[in-house]
Amino acid sequence: MTDNPLFEVDFEPVGRRVEVPPGADLLDAARQAGIGLASVCGGEGTCGRCRVVMMSGQVSEPVDADRRFLSQLEINAGHRLACRVKIHSDVKVHVPKASLVTDQRLQIGGLARALTVESAIKACVVEAEPPTLRDLRSDLERVTDAVESAYGLRHVTAEPAVIRQLSPAAREHKWSLTAFLHAREIVGFAAPTRRPVGFAVDLGTTKIAGFLVDLETGADLASGGLMNPQISYGEDVISRLVYAGRGPAAAAEIREVVIEGLNTLIASLCEQAGVDKHEVAEACIVGNTAMHHLLLGLPTRQLSVAPFVAASNAAVDVRARDLGLDIAPGAYVHVPPCVGGFVGADHVAMILACDLDKGDRVAVGVDIGTNTEIALCKPGLAYLTSASCASGPAFEGAHIKDGMRAASGAIEAVRITAAGPQIKTIGDAPAVGICGSGIIDAVAALHGAGLLNHRGRLVPGGPGLRQGPKGMEYPLALAPQTGIDRDVVITQADINEIQLAKGAIQTGLEILLESTNTPPAAVDELIVAGAFGSFLNLDSALDIGLLPRLPRAKYSQVGNAAGVGAKALLLSLKERTRAQKIARRTSYIELTTFPGFQRRFALSMWFPTGDRRVREDA
Ligand code: FES
Repeated sequence: MTDNPLFEVDFEPVGRRVEVPPGADLLDAARQAGIGLASVCGGEGTCGRCRVVMMSGQVSEPVDADRRFLSQLEINAGHRLACRVKIHSDVKVHVPKASLVTDQRLQIGGLARALTVESAIKACVVEAEPPTLRDLRSDLERVTDAVESAYGLRHVTAEPAVIRQLSPAAREHKWSLTAFLHAREIVGFAAPTRRPVGFAVDLGTTKIAGFLVDLETGADLASGGLMNPQISYGEDVISRLVYAGRGPAAAAEIREVVIEGLNTLIASLCEQAGVDKHEVAEACIVGNTAMHHLLLGLPTRQLSVAPFVAASNAAVDVRARDLGLDIAPGAYVHVPPCVGGFVGADHVAMILACDLDKGDRVAVGVDIGTNTEIALCKPGLAYLTSASCASGPAFEGAHIKDGMRAASGAIEAVRITAAGPQIKTIGDAPAVGICGSGIIDAVAALHGAGLLNHRGRLVPGGPGLRQGPKGMEYPLALAPQTGIDRDVVITQADINEIQLAKGAIQTGLEILLESTNTPPAAVDELIVAGAFGSFLNLDSALDIGLLPRLPRAKYSQVGNAAGVGAKALLLSLKERTRAQKIARRTSYIELTTFPGFQRRFALSMWFPTGDRRVREDA
């Protein structure tokens, strides 16, 4: 035995093992093992999402935070919050499915969009002269000479990282090559038959969606998504900014995990599409201001405290290799401009994809996420007007007793009939929790059935309602039918969380409409964007007042519009100019400074009454 023994932590059922020093934190051990353990509060012991079950070994005693989220029965059975556990021996831990952030349904696609491809990358197919004793030009010279004679491009350059690729590639392909040029700079080489490929990314707080596209035709080659691995540092942007603010090592750590995630995504998409990662000649990444700053390694302290100022909102082109992205050796990453506050390039991309900047109609785009961004355009309005609402992660299942993300076994649809609740789960698997669309459905169904009043209180004595350990609750699935050996319920506290989220969005929408003198009835189109928005049952959203009661024909659900915008920005220099204009032309309303915000927000948490529905229908 050494002076500093390491303890082995065995995570089941995933079967991951990791060694940690005595007294190490179990949540840190999970991060070290690459286990996507949910940790909404970033390990502060306040969200209750990092539940695990200790199967064997010695750990610290339960603390108040454990007792706040777990019953004595659960604690006796070994249930604990991972972030409150210190490890004192080899341990075996069971990670319940509901505590994992992986294996989720990721909506990555969006509306199709016609586009003239005019990318920043020009592919030059060259036949260079092989060297001889009489022709001692360098490898690079013979290729740049061939580019000049075939394409008339003079003064072409390449960095050493690219030249390192050139010499072996030229000999492998017998001096017949495709050079990928970014302006007058060669950023990579490929075989003569190959075309340049681009990588577009919507870097979300929760999810990352990536697209591989042909930079000459614009054709989709592959697409895929993954959870943002930064999630284990906190689900909201402020927790992550605070973590990064601990110092250079923490900032580097949180940046590296997202780069690792992006490299994993690139590798998997390249494999799907049958292309070499070195054929990826350019990338474009959109994200909110916090994701943008964490990716680029910009200072974040000033962004995490009021008045939430960006270090820079400007568009930049940075070397992929400086970020650590493993694509063509000289490739650039285009990062489009942000608007201000937390409204970032993903919002600009959404506006662009939905043509909200055209000003040809009264249109509102609502991009629902952990932060919900809303943009409004109307003819004659010089500026696009946007607002950001802190809708929080409730629609992702956070702060909801049995909440989870959209993964197998999540209740995604709910109806309440005379016979009781009728549910639909993802994959028709036994229920293990409830995801965002299911929660909205459940709240709308409870309200519609008269079990929930307009102030959001469950009505005592209503059929199916019961008293739970922490107030009234409504069971959606009973233990024998669930996959977790206990009932899946929606509680009064869950309903309050949904009220906060829906109140935030409703208030944002109302203020945006009012500040632009736009009566709801004047809206020609209301576009619901974002991954969650595409699974949302519109009727339920309208029933609880999350969205205004406009005729259904005015609504469209477009999926991941930010991802579609990112692709457009990758494929077209014209669209990049347009994005610059959008960022400049977008005025941003700070909702909390709007007169009467608090009162309005409080009222928005209520559910529509019958009268209100009639009035809005009129
Ligand atoms: Fe443990 Fe939030 S309670 S991460």
